[in-house]
Amino acid sequence: MHVVVFGAGSLGSLLGGLLARAHEVTLVGRDPHVKAVRRDGLDVVGVEEFRAEPAADTAVPATADLALVAVKSGDTGDAARALADCELAACLSVQNGMGNEATLAAELDCPVLAGTCSYGARLDAPGTVAFTGRGEVVLGARDGGPSTAADEVGEAFDAAGIEATVATDMPTRLWEKLAVNAAINAATALARVENGALADGPGRELAADAARETARVARERGVALTDERAVSLTERVVRDTAANRSSMLQDVETGRPTEIDAINGYVVERAAEPVPVNETLTRLVRLWERGRDAR
Ligand code: PAF
Repeated sequence: MHVVVFGAGSLGSLLGGLLARAHEVTLVGRDPHVKAVRRDGLDVVGVEEFRAEPAADTAVPATADLALVAVKSGDTGDAARALADCELAACLSVQNGMGNEATLAAELDCPVLAGTCSYGARLDAPGTVAFTGRGEVVLGARDGGPSTAADEVGEAFDAAGIEATVATDMPTRLWEKLAVNAAINAATALARVENGALADGPGRELAADAARETARVARERGVALTDERAVSLTERVVRDTAANRSSMLQDVETGRPTEIDAINGYVVERAAEPVPVNETLTRLVRLWERGRDAR
């Protein structure tokens, strides 16, 4: 299978490196990372250590069997337009936040699959990605139900040793992931702490409140997500990724735009009743973004 990974950041590079062990992979990203991968290959360090030899480019190839989209949610529109000229059999989003698949499907002429990914990764230097935690990719039809394309992608991930589950309830899975991200990302970014800081005390209460609000909005929209499940999933991810710096914390530390609009901002926009915790987290992160833009 030829996989084009659109977005050679930390997660895209890690998945691209793992997939390159069994498939032809083209990483599409920016220099200097792309230049370094072209010159010396991609070094994966940490949980597993190996050198992968994917192709790397700043432009999208003309054809591929699968486009794996791993850009920040704010860049999904650009990704969709760039991929529109590529002849594809399927596209899979493994991005944080909601609404990415619909943006991709509006431009692409192939099945667009939804995915969630809990693998931990960090870009250490151009050409080097740290594999910081083994996780799971869950993927399937974006509206739920069976999908031949999802089965084929699941098999391709298995062949590369990536833990992958093909699910027929992706709408629920996406809301579950949204609850976890709404609970963890903004709080860790604002407090500048690792995920494990939300395991007890005020951090735990804040995360649980944000997760419960998200579950309530999911139920308002017909998704069966209980408060208890949203909180227990959050607590599990906090435990499993205690030493990780969340993606939003990494964005804040490196001065990049965050995914607040597609996470807590999405919960606020979809809520029928007030969601004060998500509202406050959204306002504080937007305040930080305005300060960054003004500098
Ligand atoms: O965005 C992130 O950082 C990750 O999705 C998660 C699960 C919160 C772990 O850090």
